[in-house]
Amino acid sequence: MRRVRAHDWTRRLTRENTLSVDDLIWPLFVFDGLGTQPIPSLPDVSRLGIPEARDAARRAVDLGIPAIALFPATDPKLKTEDAREAINEDNLVCRVTREIKSAVGDSLGVILDVALDPYSSHGQDGLVRDGRVLNDETVDMLCQQSIVQANAGCDIIAPSDMMDGRIGRIREALDTAGHTDVQIMSYAAKYASAFYGPFRDAVGSAANLGAADKKTYQQSPAQSDEAIHEVALDLAEGADCVMVKPGMPYLDIVARVKQSFGVPTYAYQVSGEYAMLRAAADAGWLDRDAVMMESLLAFKRAGADGILTYFADAAAELLK
Ligand code: PBG
Repeated sequence: MRRVRAHDWTRRLTRENTLSVDDLIWPLFVFDGLGTQPIPSLPDVSRLGIPEARDAARRAVDLGIPAIALFPATDPKLKTEDAREAINEDNLVCRVTREIKSAVGDSLGVILDVALDPYSSHGQDGLVRDGRVLNDETVDMLCQQSIVQANAGCDIIAPSDMMDGRIGRIREALDTAGHTDVQIMSYAAKYASAFYGPFRDAVGSAANLGAADKKTYQQSPAQSDEAIHEVALDLAEGADCVMVKPGMPYLDIVARVKQSFGVPTYAYQVSGEYAMLRAAADAGWLDRDAVMMESLLAFKRAGADGILTYFADAAAELLK
């Protein structure tokens, strides 16, 4: 085996997987204001004001990153039990999307999450009654949220809420509203994970959620076949591509999904994974650039077509 590993040229020649900037999706947190707000649990990631978000979108284009995903840190005063800010045509994420699209046009894809947690006073992704997260009532709202976001100009609707039957209903709602070109990226295999902590700090939903969890709709980390079942349903309902989330602890699921369905399959290297690698690198225990690139390449090896990662800009710089 060592003969083919002996020189750089033979290692390059036999290389099976490659990471390129085309594989990266860059998540951006936005707030309604100017300037930047650091997020302590996500070193070097900040919430961006509206002009700063537009500048980041321009930077993504310059770096060759194909798409960004926007997440709003909603003003706590606008969070309500019924999360109605989610369906306001002029909410933060819609305004930022319009601003970015008018700056960069079609040179960058804009992905918007569909779920109620950035807008709800209880931090759940759906509507809550008597302590239960309601399915069908939530799906009605997710359809409206999707239309509002598509009207703002987003290219991909990414339902991350894990309600049942939402993909088919959202597809129908988008088509009826004339948004037949808007893609649906379904967070199909999304686990009830402890790795989302820093994200909930970033969008300010951690305190709203408190000690509650999302186990009645997100998958148990014990499940593997269930992910295949869920992806099959979402594809049958009209998903164009699917997401596995979290990423690194779930590479077995990425590989299974890609092998089973052969559809565009994305992985989300979530906030806790980024925080973990950065904490070790910042302590001097790991080489930041080396672990970043190795972790991203591992997603490619598992079969991911793209990776949503907080390292996207740093990795794109290194790949230049
Ligand atoms: C909201 C959503 C979450 C993430 C993306 N969309 C949090 C959650 O489900 O609680 C987490 C992403 C990350 O940790 O980076 N539905």
